[in-house]
Amino acid sequence: MQENFESFKGLKSPRLRNKNRSIHVLWLTNVVLVTLLFWSLLQKRDSDPTLALFSPANHVVRYRTVVFDSFRNERTPYMPPEEGGVPNDDTDMAWEDLYKAGISRVPKSDATKLVNWTVPIPGDQDHYIVMLDVFHQLHCLNIIRRALYPERYHMQMWDGHHLRPIDNEHLEHCVDSIRQLITCHSDISTHYWRWEDWHKHPGSRVYSQTTHTCRNFEKIQEWAIEHRLRDFDFFTKASNEIHPENGVRVGETVY
Ligand SMILES: *[C@@H]1O[C@H](CO)[C@@H](O)[C@H](O)[C@H]1NC(C)=O
Repeated sequence: MQENFESFKGLKSPRLRNKNRSIHVLWLTNVVLVTLLFWSLLQKRDSDPTLALFSPANHVVRYRTVVFDSFRNERTPYMPPEEGGVPNDDTDMAWEDLYKAGISRVPKSDATKLVNWTVPIPGDQDHYIVMLDVFHQLHCLNIIRRALYPERYHMQMWDGHHLRPIDNEHLEHCVDSIRQLITCHSDISTHYWRWEDWHKHPGSRVYSQTTHTCRNFEKIQEWAIEHRLRDFDFFTKASNEIHPENGVRVGETVY
């Protein structure tokens, strides 16, 4: 009776108080467990050695499994629509869409963490200009591709403003940068062989439908679109450049 009366008034009986305490303990345990879970996930992300150097897009990197299918008969939008044919405007657009958001605008807080300092954007000096290398590499590969079809591109490339001649010097640098990229990433996914009876010359034939762990390009592209730098005056010097010198950044505005 007494108990009921007290609980009715909002005062808790000892039994209820105990029950409440267990619920609190349960809640607390849950909170601690969830926090630990997130913390361990964060640790796992931080322990990805390919993300050790700071990039303003480190946090958007995700991985997924992709089966490459380069040698099937189907043609991708990045190839001429017909075998032995020439690319068309759609092919060009597909390529340019890969890297057209390539130059990015990042806040000063990100710029100060870069391994190589970069310049602020004139007129928007709290933000800095960078480009993620994936976009430069795609641009390079596109130049090599264009050089394959002189009848269509007349050895010219689009630099964002003008059509410029593609010279061998430029091509050689692009090929070499792609060589470095490939060896840098050293993809160890495996090709495999299958015995094929039905061939005119039965034998073990290589399969190139290799399965890879890939960075999710779409996520990185989304980041680039969000951070796209549309206008940049390359010929105006911005004043508050950050210069790391002997580990100390000089020239940084101190507020
Ligand atoms: C960029 O940083 C790397 C690594 O510290 C260094 O080797 C390179 O010389 C730097 N480049 C410039 C232009 O400072």
